[in-house]
Amino acid sequence: MIHLPVMEFPVEKLINTARAARERAYAPYSGFRVGAALLTVEGRLYSGCNIENASYGLTVCAERVALFKAVSNGERNFAALAVISGRTEFCTPCGACRQVLVEFAPEMDVYMCNDRGEYKRQTAAGLLPLSFYLPPAAGGDNPPGGKKPPTRLTEPVDR
Ligand code: THU
Repeated sequence: MIHLPVMEFPVEKLINTARAARERAYAPYSGFRVGAALLTVEGRLYSGCNIENASYGLTVCAERVALFKAVSNGERNFAALAVISGRTEFCTPCGACRQVLVEFAPEMDVYMCNDRGEYKRQTAAGLLPLSFYLPPAAGGDNPPGGKKPPTRLTEPVDR
C-alpha cells in the first residue's frame, strides 16, 4: 500500500491571508469589508476581497473574487476557504457564493471567521443543501464538483 505524504497547512495562516486581503476591500457603499483566502489541494493560496460598485448589483463578494482568480489561473482542486469580515459575528458566505463554491468544490471546508480568530467550519455542500444542478436533459452534464474532460475544439489542418 502506497502512502502519499499528507500536506499540512495551518488554518491560522489561511485566516491571516483572508484578514490581509480584507485590507484591500473596496466597500465604500456598505462599509462592510470582507476578505477571503482559498487553499488549493496542491497548497497554493488565492486571496480575494469584496469589490463594490456604484451600481450596487455589480458588487462581487470576496469569496467569488478569490475563487475566480484561482479558476482563471487554471486551478480546479480546492481544499479550504476562509472568509472574514473583521466583526464579532462569524462571516458566512451569501447564497450566490455558496452556489459558486459548490460548483467547484462541494467537499471543501469553509472556515467562517470572526475578528477574534474564532471560526465555524462547514463543507461547501453542507452550506447549500439541494444546490442547483443542471440535469443532462437540460443541456448540463457537469455535476457539482464533477471532473469532466475538457471540450476540445477541432480545427481543420489546412486553412
Ligand atoms: N460580502 C462578501 O464579500 N462576502 C460575504 O460573504 C457576504 C457579503 C460583501 C458584499 C458587499 O460588498 C458587502 O459584503 C455587504 O453585503
